[in-house]
Amino acid sequence: MELVSSVSMLNEARKNGYAVVAFNFHTLEMMQAVVEAAEECRSPLILQTTVGTVKHLGLDYVVSAAKTAAQNARIPIALHLDHCHDFDLIVRCLRAGYTSIMIDASMHPFQENIQRTKWVADIAKIFQVNVEAELGKVGGVEDDLVVKDEDALLANPAECEEFVKQTGITSFAPAIGTAHGLYKGEPKIDFPRLEEISRRVDVPLVLHGGSGIPVQQIKQCVSLGVAKINVATELKNAFSESIKDFFAQNPTEFDPRKYLIPAKEAVKKIVIQKMEMAGCIGRA
Ligand code: 13P
Repeated sequence: MELVSSVSMLNEARKNGYAVVAFNFHTLEMMQAVVEAAEECRSPLILQTTVGTVKHLGLDYVVSAAKTAAQNARIPIALHLDHCHDFDLIVRCLRAGYTSIMIDASMHPFQENIQRTKWVADIAKIFQVNVEAELGKVGGVEDDLVVKDEDALLANPAECEEFVKQTGITSFAPAIGTAHGLYKGEPKIDFPRLEEISRRVDVPLVLHGGSGIPVQQIKQCVSLGVAKINVATELKNAFSESIKDFFAQNPTEFDPRKYLIPAKEAVKKIVIQKMEMAGCIGRA
């Protein structure tokens, strides 16, 4: 199969009460682990990169690897660009083959956020791909994007409705209390707010900061219209902890395959766990 647009994947998910998980990867092995696990689960999949990962691996390498994965897999796979405010890079990613993008203009005032997002949504329509955008500010750390706890801001439901209408985006990420990175305590998700947003907005909703959220909270989010869950930190953590453990036990080893094989397995375990939580197993 070719890489697919995530529009129908996410619409199906919202309609049928489950979520697709979008996994951020940082190395080829992490991407392979995510794809292998999704295939075992017969689950639709969104592979996701930050801008930092595009710069680190190179756009052509990322797209070639994802296309190869899609061609070899028997599940639908979309390739998504996470949190990007750089128009040039968005267009380059679309031209190179990304099938889903997030324009993050949430640092701008409301009207300017609408203008910038609409501009990207119009272009994405030509490419027939998904466009995601955010309102409010998700706290925490995601690559170069750092939002301090005191600057995190929950999305206003009336603004959410107007934003989605005016921009024409096909998926929407309202800030509802989750955070990027590791939580210090339990996440404090504002469910009444999510419920109201879900009533006002009918496009699939996206949950950022999907690491470390208890299963019951994930299920409740999904029941309230969340159809895409982003997971990055837990994969990075599993991959790195496995490598650290390996070297603690094998300090003189120097064949990368020796430590990357168990690291891939550690990533696969998390992917399967998250897919179970999201309810997307067997949906491909
Ligand atoms: P976590 O790093 O908390 O899993 O969040 C991922 C994310 O939201 C990517 O946009």
